[in-house]
Amino acid sequence: MVVERAAGQTKRAGLWVTLEGGDGSGKTTQAALLRDWLEASGRTVVTTREPGGTDVGRLVRDIVLHHRGDIAPRAEALLYAADRAHHIETVVGPALDRGEVVVQDRYLDSSVAYQGAGRVLDPGEVRELSLWATGGVLPDVTVLLDLDPSRARARLDADDKPFDRLEAERDEFHERVRAAFLQLAAAEPARFLVLDATRPADELAAAVRARVAPLLSAAH
Ligand code: TYD
Repeated sequence: MVVERAAGQTKRAGLWVTLEGGDGSGKTTQAALLRDWLEASGRTVVTTREPGGTDVGRLVRDIVLHHRGDIAPRAEALLYAADRAHHIETVVGPALDRGEVVVQDRYLDSSVAYQGAGRVLDPGEVRELSLWATGGVLPDVTVLLDLDPSRARARLDADDKPFDRLEAERDEFHERVRAAFLQLAAAEPARFLVLDATRPADELAAAVRARVAPLLSAAH
């Protein structure tokens, strides 16, 4: 884990990997494949997600994904940040302190992309809000599964599940989200691994493993 700016905090013992991308980009599949590989090699792994990685977070998730009617964009950004603050404080931070590997579906890059570019809040402010919420911590690696929103839409349609509030947004929204993710990755090439999500799942998993393997020390 990398502490962006909180003075005096030391690097924690564990390894923190986040997965990002649009809806339907295959994050859940890749998180599971990475977890299986890590566990098979004897690591202790915590798989978790945002929103909804804690009991409080599940209440927040229900609001942000299933509330009928509008939520003011700033309120939505604050709800995701609240979920994140509690999640990092109670689940992710302690696991990293124990030296475990955290594999996390979405983190603050999702807020910058969805609430910033998607909802058209100031992306810098949205990022600052999340950094404030979490004490400025950033993952060691962020895997971005990049996918054209029209391909993603076809995958979600095939799933036959009802769309949540974000999934139901128009294509232009998802185009902006995609562009924002790519911009974030370009700004922080050392943290991001960008993968073409149209590639077969096993090839993607191999690319993720190749990126993570050198970061695993005996301590993880
Ligand atoms: P996710 O759990 O990945 O969706 P699914 O249940 O379909 O696998 O994410 C839920 C939605 O929340 C997704 O549409 C993106 C959105 N989201 C934000 O808008 N901002 C955020 O900060 C996060 C973490 C998610």
